[in-house]
Amino acid sequence: MTADIPVNELSLEDAGAELKRLAGEIAKHDQHYHGADAPIISDAEYDALRRRNLEIETRFPELMIEDGPSTSVGAAPSEGFGKIVHKVPMLSLDNAFDDADVSDFVGRVRRFLRFDPLMGVLAVTAEPKIDGLSLALRYEKGELVSAATRGDGAVGENVTANARTISDIPHKLSGEVPAVVEVRGEVYMAHPDFQALNERMLGNGGKAFANPRNAAAGSLRQLNSEITASRPLRFFAYAWGEMSALPADTQMGVVDAFKKWGFEVNPLMRRCESVEALLEVYHSIEEERATLGYDIDGVVYKIDRLDLQERLGFVSRSPRWAIAHKFPAEQAYTILNDIEIQVGRTGALTPVAKLEPVTVGGVVVSNATLHNEDYIKAIGPNGEQIRGGKDLRKGDTVKIQRAGDVIPQIVDVDLEKRLPDAEEFAFPQTCPVCGSHAVREENPKTGRRDAVMRCTGGLICPAQATEKLKHFVSRNAFDIEGFGDKQVDAFYADGLVQSPADIFTLEEMDRQSLTKLRNREGWGAVSARNLFAAINERRAIDLHRFIFALGIRHVGEGNAKLLARAYGSWNVFYKSMSAAHDHSSEAWAELNDIDGVGTIVAEAVTEFFAEDHNREQLDALLSQVTPRDAEAVDAGDSPVAGKTVVFTGSLERMTRDEAKAMAERFGAKVSGSVSKKTDLVVAGPGAGSKLKKAQELSVDVISEDDWFDLVGA
Ligand code: IVH
Repeated sequence: MTADIPVNELSLEDAGAELKRLAGEIAKHDQHYHGADAPIISDAEYDALRRRNLEIETRFPELMIEDGPSTSVGAAPSEGFGKIVHKVPMLSLDNAFDDADVSDFVGRVRRFLRFDPLMGVLAVTAEPKIDGLSLALRYEKGELVSAATRGDGAVGENVTANARTISDIPHKLSGEVPAVVEVRGEVYMAHPDFQALNERMLGNGGKAFANPRNAAAGSLRQLNSEITASRPLRFFAYAWGEMSALPADTQMGVVDAFKKWGFEVNPLMRRCESVEALLEVYHSIEEERATLGYDIDGVVYKIDRLDLQERLGFVSRSPRWAIAHKFPAEQAYTILNDIEIQVGRTGALTPVAKLEPVTVGGVVVSNATLHNEDYIKAIGPNGEQIRGGKDLRKGDTVKIQRAGDVIPQIVDVDLEKRLPDAEEFAFPQTCPVCGSHAVREENPKTGRRDAVMRCTGGLICPAQATEKLKHFVSRNAFDIEGFGDKQVDAFYADGLVQSPADIFTLEEMDRQSLTKLRNREGWGAVSARNLFAAINERRAIDLHRFIFALGIRHVGEGNAKLLARAYGSWNVFYKSMSAAHDHSSEAWAELNDIDGVGTIVAEAVTEFFAEDHNREQLDALLSQVTPRDAEAVDAGDSPVAGKTVVFTGSLERMTRDEAKAMAERFGAKVSGSVSKKTDLVVAGPGAGSKLKKAQELSVDVISEDDWFDLVGA
């Protein structure tokens, strides 16, 4: 299944298929959220889909789908916050990418308004486009009553308590203000605050934010407003929603009023009377960009007169009276000093470009990912041209691009500047860390060589061992506070922790040891005690986290959850996986029957359990840790709890995915095929072979309406 392949291992073909699949998935979940008001995945899972989509688009810009998820307006509001319906929708802006687009914009506006030079000048404002997240603040009689994120533009999240902690946001407006005022603007984090926050996060064993925008969004969307209060957020006011009266009749005039009422407004905003003047402001803002102290990604132009804005109105989701002139992708040329090979958790050898440090969009870049062997080479082993291969050599002059929060990429190489003696890069055939043989596996189905070269050393490879441990303690796995990458490296190097079970015997070993943890550099009695307490807290752990922590190839969080839900308990899971190694077994069939689990995942899981050293490590770990049984969500005393249900035929009241989510909510397992183990078949019109099989096996068959009656929904 392409869904399980890490982005840097996707072939061009798989990437295309995967982008299509993601576009469909994301659209479906948007629909579940907004259409049915019944999301079937968590916010984090939804975000992960979007993130994967973006990463693939960044790696394969040529495959970007028009109208794909990355071009659609915001994401669905999260489940954790109350919702606020925007009285006036929060729209997005159309984009201009070059000077001609800007003069087209002004020309379009003039034609629309039939605004000829005799009618005077057409004034347009220009101001920085802040790279943060937009927020709508409602004031009644001058008092702040609510704050909402944009959400999908129609409905946002209620983040009032959090907004109150931002010092740029007045709780009470100054001077004479209309009865109802809704000020809109951007929440952002300034560069020095961002750096300090990241240092703090890393120091506490946490993870750093990729960029100030993520940090601002992550900080504003905290369920605990004390956390937001501890994050240095700022706010610029630049637009408005519902207003019982307007304080001026121009854009500039209203923004001036915002300032008088107590808001921060951007000091670089200017009023221009020609396209040339707009472009001049654009270029001067672009020049100042690196020294502003906060991220901006373009300049926004708005028609100044509000009566003209009114006449211009909107086209679909953006106003006709405004446009965002984006800065070009952040690119720079530098020298490729070296190519290093990093070894990951699954043994993947990933080449990394070591660059002569260069500033790209205000950030110093000295590394860039090179994905895999094919990305660096141009010619394959049989003399064939490699699609997308760049033939990168040490000493080359390369073009670097940074796009948003993704890892910098090499997008081009300047062959004219290639040194005459530059040699083709020889990708290592052995692991640079442990010396084991490295291989590119062949996909048995397609016969194609995997893009990724892998170290075959398994756990004898220190790189794989430490990466596996880092995964084991990571946030969505065991999540042991104070036990991060740094601690893994140090404990591994000293022989204290070689395998996951060692983490849980650390305290006992420490008791017997002469070289106590509390006496090590950087540690003390309190921090040692806290670490042991944090470890002990994880001796009981949710089954899906436990499965995810094992680091089985292709088993990410989503698949771990599917498996946990399908098998319910560790013992059942472990027994079934051991039995499933035999592909003629019922256990194998059952594993493949789980909706969402494909052959690649099934193979990877059964292979994992067939390895002796994995079983040994597991036994040791299980003598320390107890996985908690997966609970059926909301199952209560539902009549279908624990039952295996098959949906077949066309369903009229719900989609197949909704049906599945609903069944699982009521504690049932959903299977894709009918067998002796099936308890119930829900058949819609057009049901065929599955219905027949159910009848043969005397499995209960009910209609879709019966199903709703049965579960009482
Ligand atoms: S005006 C009706 N002005 O850009 C349009 N938006 O792509 C109202 N943004 O959602 C928006 N700086 O989050 C406007 N100076 C600025 C902005 C700005 C950043 C963001 C805002 C909006 C997005 C649209």
